[in-house]
Amino acid sequence: MDLIDLRSDTVTRPTPEMRRAMADAEVGDDVFGDDPTVHALEERAAELLGKEAALFVASGTMGNLVAQMAHLARGQETIAGYQSHVVLDEAAGHAVVVGTSVRALRERADGTMDLDEIRDAFRDASDPHQPITGLVVIENTHAHSMGRPLDVAYESAVAAIAHEGGVPMHIDGARFWNAAVALGISGRELAAPADSLTFCLSKGLSCPVGSVVAGTRDFIWRARRARKLLGGGMRQAGVLAAAGLVALRDGPAGTIERLADDHDNARRLAEALSAMAGIRSPGDIAQPADGPLDPGRVVTNFVLFRVERDRRAFVDACAGRGLLLDSFPHDQIRAATHRGIGADDIVRATEIIQAALGETSRRPISAAGAAR
Ligand SMILES: Cc1ncc(COP(=O)(O)O)c(C=O)c1O
Repeated sequence: MDLIDLRSDTVTRPTPEMRRAMADAEVGDDVFGDDPTVHALEERAAELLGKEAALFVASGTMGNLVAQMAHLARGQETIAGYQSHVVLDEAAGHAVVVGTSVRALRERADGTMDLDEIRDAFRDASDPHQPITGLVVIENTHAHSMGRPLDVAYESAVAAIAHEGGVPMHIDGARFWNAAVALGISGRELAAPADSLTFCLSKGLSCPVGSVVAGTRDFIWRARRARKLLGGGMRQAGVLAAAGLVALRDGPAGTIERLADDHDNARRLAEALSAMAGIRSPGDIAQPADGPLDPGRVVTNFVLFRVERDRRAFVDACAGRGLLLDSFPHDQIRAATHRGIGADDIVRATEIIQAALGETSRRPISAAGAAR
């Protein structure tokens, strides 16, 4: 049975062009600065984002971590979304490794934080009781609001507040290119307000490994030191960077432009699900606990929803029929579309979900599941 794997866009396999480029990559010892393919990737990423320099790192988590290490001193504090990856899903690296605290603010339906709340969250540096605010982080796309893209106007407003407060703004852009494609603007435009950003090659862009951090030359130098400290200095890493160079090619030769197909497929899936009894809204920060699923909210590659079923039984019933879904916090289920999923898979996924609803017994949505 062919599996339809909608657990995440991280399950994507390298394209045949990537595999060829990896096999043929010219390499050297990147810790000595000798790997031409890593250099080429870093230069290409910096150029696409309109930044002075970039750094290839092992993962999105490492990218966010080295960015924090480069921006922050021990005892400082970061303002970030309550439901953001940096706050929820990076094993408290900010505390354990960077030695900083987080001031977490609730995000709104569209993944943004209230601008006045960001302003109010800055600490009083003249009060010795308080940590000193050192960084603002936003997540684009914002995973927990159904992968919503944050637009340049919002990014610029947050950056202006950060800069008024004398601190930089970092974008966790694990799915930065999904945001750019959904908004119909260039990476350069979307990256412009940020002092630094991370994007992942290993998600929708289909590379096997890696992320890129970008910013000023000076910031990247500090991030490079931080990467070494974390054990992230990689040697003949050009074998991996070669896949990234393929991903970042212009037009259909790369894997950025085609993200639009993933967004179309996600919307198609959401439309089909919204018509099914038993499928409810994710009950997330955006939607009431027990409302219907609104497919209009799906503009990138995530569909979040809940089921009037025992979630485990439902997810298992789907898996038994060949559809893999991810269990997300707060009793949600996530379906993420990606390069391995075609329009025909969406049709089959819809049929499987309908059948799984039919073979699991109804259970009302628990309001507690939506408590945030
Ligand atoms: C929003 C966000 N940021 C960062 C990351 C971390 O990426 P990685 O899994 O490569 O460490 C993820 C991973 O899913 C993510 O969704």
